[in-house]
Amino acid sequence: MVAFPILFAIFAPLKIEEWIKDMENFSELIRLRRSTRKFTDEELTQEQVEMLLRAALMSPSSKRSNGWQFVVVDDKEMLAKLAQCKEAGAGLIAGAALAIVVLADPLVSDVWIEDASVASLMIQLQAEDLGLGSCWVQVRERFTADGIQADEVVRDLLDIPLQLQVLSIIAVGHKGQERKPFDEANLQWEKVHINKY
Ligand SMILES: Cc1cc2nc3c(=O)[nH]c(=O)nc-3n(C[C@H](O)[C@H](O)[C@H](O)COP(=O)(O)O)c2cc1C
Repeated sequence: MVAFPILFAIFAPLKIEEWIKDMENFSELIRLRRSTRKFTDEELTQEQVEMLLRAALMSPSSKRSNGWQFVVVDDKEMLAKLAQCKEAGAGLIAGAALAIVVLADPLVSDVWIEDASVASLMIQLQAEDLGLGSCWVQVRERFTADGIQADEVVRDLLDIPLQLQVLSIIAVGHKGQERKPFDEANLQWEKVHINKY
């Protein structure tokens, strides 16, 4: 019993320091994160892929309904096909090591768009923390040049059941381009209203 307060006194300050350091790292992480659209050929490790999915599965969701599901694609041919799922803005998927297709079931969560969006961003933040680059590719409400819905294209390619909606594809890989960190001089503070609009 006596040992516990002593041990706590020794280890607690270390824990708090680590926590403060992590928090500083998070502030830095959100400043440095930029969309990556060019990737190197290097593959991801199994551990990295697991970390990305772990972050997705830990995402907060409305009423803890966890209405999302994820399709992980590392097959090069399939990545190239997914890159054609809409008229513009999906081409980068072809060069990524991995694509995580974010799905959600509207019957499980009435706010599935929010749930799936949060999960998409969690994957992106985890990718950045692993030193990887990522880009959100919007699928919902997007179309091919022929007017076919992007989610239908993705659904056919990946055999996604009808009840699931496709929100996004998060492309991940080793960064093949350098992006400038967010310029804090450009923060739109005028969009913030205090107590009243
Ligand atoms: C909802 C959403 C949809 C997006 N869709 C695409 C997309 O289809 N293709 C793409 O290249 N980038 C897409 N992006 C990335 C944005 O273009 C990017 O986040 C924005 O330009 C800001 O740049 P940054 O991420 O480098 O800070 C999307 C981002 C969000 C949040």
